[in-house]
Amino acid sequence: MKIAIIGGGPAGLYAAILLRKQWPLAEIAVYERNRADDTFGFGVVFSDATLDNFEKYDPPSYRRITQEFAYWDDIAVHFRGTVHRVGGNGFCGCSRRKLLLILQERARELGVSLRFETEIDDESRFADADLIVLADGINSRFREKHIAHFEPEVDVRSNVFAWMGSTRPLDAFTFIFQETEWGPFIAHAYQYEAGRSTWIFETDPATFKRAGLEGLNEKQSADRMAEIFGWFLDGYPLLTNRSMWRNFPMIRSKRWVKDNMVLLGDAKATAHFSIGSGTKLAMEDAIALAEAMEHAPTVGAALEQYEQGRREEVEKTQHAADVSLVWFEHVDRFWEFDPVQFAFGVMTRSKAITYDNLTLRAPDFVAEVNKAFARQVRAKGFDVDVEKPLAPMFQPMRLREMELANRAVVSPMCMYSAKEGMPTDFHLVHYGSRAVGGAGLIFTEMTCVGRDARITPGCTGLWNDEQEAAWRRIVDFVHANSAAKICLQLGHAGRKGATKLMWDGMDRPLEESGWDIVSASPIPYFPDSKMPREMDRAAMDAVKRAFVQAAERGERCGFDMLELHCAHGYLLASFISPLTNRRSDEYGGSLDNRLRFPLEVFEAMRAAWPARKPMSVRISATDWVDGGIIGDDAVAIARAFAEAGVDLVDVSTGQTVRDAQPLYGRMFQTPFSDQIRNEARVATMCVGNITTSDQVNTILAAGRADLVALGRPHLVDPAFTLKAAAWYGADGVFCPPQYLPGKEQIFRNSVRDRQDFDDLKIKAKPKTRAELKAEASKPLAAE
Ligand SMILES: Cc1cc2nc3c(=O)[nH]c(=O)nc-3n(C[C@H](O)[C@H](O)[C@H](O)COP(=O)(O)OP(=O)(O)OC[C@H]3O[C@@H](n4cnc5c(N)ncnc54)[C@H](O)[C@@H]3O)c2cc1C
Ligand SMILES: Cc1cc2nc3c(=O)[nH]c(=O)nc-3n(C[C@H](O)[C@H](O)[C@H](O)COP(=O)(O)O)c2cc1C
Repeated sequence: MKIAIIGGGPAGLYAAILLRKQWPLAEIAVYERNRADDTFGFGVVFSDATLDNFEKYDPPSYRRITQEFAYWDDIAVHFRGTVHRVGGNGFCGCSRRKLLLILQERARELGVSLRFETEIDDESRFADADLIVLADGINSRFREKHIAHFEPEVDVRSNVFAWMGSTRPLDAFTFIFQETEWGPFIAHAYQYEAGRSTWIFETDPATFKRAGLEGLNEKQSADRMAEIFGWFLDGYPLLTNRSMWRNFPMIRSKRWVKDNMVLLGDAKATAHFSIGSGTKLAMEDAIALAEAMEHAPTVGAALEQYEQGRREEVEKTQHAADVSLVWFEHVDRFWEFDPVQFAFGVMTRSKAITYDNLTLRAPDFVAEVNKAFARQVRAKGFDVDVEKPLAPMFQPMRLREMELANRAVVSPMCMYSAKEGMPTDFHLVHYGSRAVGGAGLIFTEMTCVGRDARITPGCTGLWNDEQEAAWRRIVDFVHANSAAKICLQLGHAGRKGATKLMWDGMDRPLEESGWDIVSASPIPYFPDSKMPREMDRAAMDAVKRAFVQAAERGERCGFDMLELHCAHGYLLASFISPLTNRRSDEYGGSLDNRLRFPLEVFEAMRAAWPARKPMSVRISATDWVDGGIIGDDAVAIARAFAEAGVDLVDVSTGQTVRDAQPLYGRMFQTPFSDQIRNEARVATMCVGNITTSDQVNTILAAGRADLVALGRPHLVDPAFTLKAAAWYGADGVFCPPQYLPGKEQIFRNSVRDRQDFDDLKIKAKPKTRAELKAEASKPLAAE
């Protein structure tokens, strides 16, 4: 077996070590263009979990690495004169140079040939190799040479960063968010050995320019950073080593393998430095390759197995890195936040760390977060306890004169169970039980403003007196038997109308007894869907009237709030998205034009709806298609509705066109709510794959939404909120007298259940290396 490895970074060297251990007779050579100890940069960081992996795959290098490392447990967030520390993170840092020297030494011991100062520009010199490993880093020449095959996608991010060092000792992974006269600067800093720390400085391009950094050399820009962060550096110098400012490229390659060549480490994919995973990914790639080589019958099969087995893990890490880098790119959104809420946002930015998880690790910090949240609620005139506050989910909220007892919401969900638009007993039981289950607000399903406005024959409507009476009965039940408020969602199906019930074929056209459908432009949803008629002004006037009349009926029913459905590709959404609006009149073209009719409908309804009652609008904040609506458009849309008097933007996404490519995942729509809330400065409700009360609290406490809606979780659990209240000890939650014994029991048991759960979690969590080290260095207690 002959293996050529191009690149002597962490990926190439660790691959050499593991492959040579497996194939002691293999001829393995690493070709590195630099000298052996000629490495740029300062420290790298690994989590405890990554070190566990190293321990398993090569104990000798693991031992040497861990002897050299600096450990820490805390993350410290400095912002506006405050510092918040959170423990239990289990990280360690090491000098990149030392790491490489350790790996080189270990590779040599095993008999790997290390050829330094050897730059490879053509793989043909390895024609006799069984395997060629391309570990030539972020600017990989070989990835670029075979660009048509590997198909890399390089997303150059907007923020600029520079990697420096310092002799300043640090006892935590330290984030410093620094206001300057030019704009915000961020430092990501950690110690990696005694007397040495890594400092990555980051800022946005406009601040970079304003700070005059553009024309400065390495030394001058280090001096500028030392001025900005001097108060923290405390006289310690900043060190440079090729510390030029650059933009981070997020790299994803469609293929990782070509014949007997394989991309490893940064050459194949990168992950933003803010989650400290670059070296981890590089070394874990080497582990995955070695595993595949051990178990597969041929090199070809091994490479295929490596790519297939490893891709998901790499993409998951890249996704977390993406979410994290976007947070840092938009840090100005949170600049006005209370510092403790800001710190909570830093900690929870990439979904891995949550409210409950932090409550276990840093209860005092979460107590501060809760207090800050309660203070904001109190400032809005609520008499809430600020000293012993409830979790954010159970804090009240006011929209105009409507007060919500808590922030959990039942999302609008079609039940497809109406007859000629008439709500039935099913609807009474459905809405009634969810209201009794404790949510602060429940939405009706999309209720249609006319017979021909329906999506399906099973949709509810509000265009005649019988329907009005049926809805009044439901609203009366909710008001008489719960503390929930109820919001009427009104909509018109547009080109998605005259389709089958969900369980017969979602969005598929009815085969018979359909009705004529209208849209912004004559574009069918599926190629075989009914062709919608482009609306003329008379049709638009008729639809506007229908919305206003339904709103008036809604008021007579006693609904507390009204929502206009402008999402999911229905009629009003079809005006907003450029993918479905091809009009050449004043309702098509620019976003302002496309918004004209939806805003007109909203304004007419707002005028008819009592001023003391709130209104919301549901929008699709992205179409998930190139050329469609994106987050920045959604901010503009939200602003336009806010100016027209909207009190809350209900942030959903997609369902506009068939070929959308949504990126699903936990809480996947929340970033859009975050962007709209904190850029357009309007209250938002987020929704979408939010399944636990822990997630609800995480979102609210981080200021990413004001209300959180849950759809599918409520289909199977009407008492979602009541149960969450028991878990968090929010005993003020409403419960009808008939059910009080159940409430008393679950509240009593939850105290014990929660204690058991926390104990289990604490017991199951292995001690971090920092904790073990601290214990080992404690003097033994005197007898
Ligand atoms: C600012 C910044 C901060 C970072 N912080 C961290 C961190 O905290 N933790 C972490 O884990 N990672 C961090 N990283 C990422 C980390 O440095 C890389 O992800 C990691 O080094 C990737 O390993 P690699 O072996 O794939 O590539 P590299 O380490 O880049 O190694 C590639 C090697 O190939 C050599 N080479 C290239 N072309 C040729 C050629 N044609 N012939 C011969 N040799 C060649 C290069 O000289 C280089 O030595 C950071 C990166 C940056 C930019
Ligand atoms: C059965 C069902 C029916 C739905 N009907 C509507 C609706 O009438 N109006 C609407 O705006 N959204 C509707 N939605 C979307 C939900 O309100 C919600 O945005 C979506 O299900 C994502 O939230 P979840 O992950 O909590 O379920 C529906 C969803 C489901 C599952």
